[in-house]
Amino acid sequence: MNMKQPILIISILVTAVWGCQENQEERIKRTEDKYFDVSKYKGNINTDGRMVVSEINKVFEDMYTKAIEEHGLLGAIDYCGDHAFDVLDSLGHYYGVGLKRTSLKYRSPENAPDSLDYAILNNMKDLGEQGVDVTPMSMKFAGGDGIFYAPIKMKSMCLPCHGMKLRGDIKDEVWKKIRERYPDDKSYDFNLNEMVGVWGVYFPAEYRARKGSVDIPKM
Ligand code: HEC
Repeated sequence: MNMKQPILIISILVTAVWGCQENQEERIKRTEDKYFDVSKYKGNINTDGRMVVSEINKVFEDMYTKAIEEHGLLGAIDYCGDHAFDVLDSLGHYYGVGLKRTSLKYRSPENAPDSLDYAILNNMKDLGEQGVDVTPMSMKFAGGDGIFYAPIKMKSMCLPCHGMKLRGDIKDEVWKKIRERYPDDKSYDFNLNEMVGVWGVYFPAEYRARKGSVDIPKM
């Protein structure tokens, strides 16, 4: 079998799945005010992916913390549900990458894995079950695009919304609220440090030259 074929097929698949790229490019061209200092990119998607993930992890943790402080746990469910995609979009725009959060056991159907995510998630799950400490993975595609996946692990601040139901991590009113908004929710019964999902960071081949702006909605 011609070895180039699978790479090409994956590349077409990824381009189709991450079809937002074109829009993103247009938005990036439009705004020149705030953008990530692209000279900080090393040009290696593993190094750059780790850096982006550590920063966006902080943004998301801050978002949860502030939302809970200002709106309470129940209000935070709606707040995060209403804003998570805008924040992801803005951050992707800022870094000049495509961003997603996905999981085998997801809460929002909008975060459902596509076939590539699914393969990676399953692979990480198998490694985890073998007792391996799951680390990030990346793939490069024909044309120079690449995707970086990093596991998202449970912290204590996540338990009230993703923890063990029977242990009482998730209070009854929180459970009810989540069920109402996400009737098919699968994102619970996780333990501390367990992998709850992954970040996917899609680096277009020309990412080093990109500019974007960040616009995180006000609480
Ligand atoms: C106030 C409740 C709440 C807290 C606290 C919370 N989450 Fe979530 N989480 C949600 C809701 C609601 C969604 C679905 C909406 C969205 O964010 O896309 C979600 C979605 C996710 C997703 C995307 C996949 C999916 O299931 O849809 C991941 C991954 C995730 N959360 C991880 C975490 C981690 C890690 C923490 C702790 C740092 C955390 N969450 C804290 C409510 C919460």
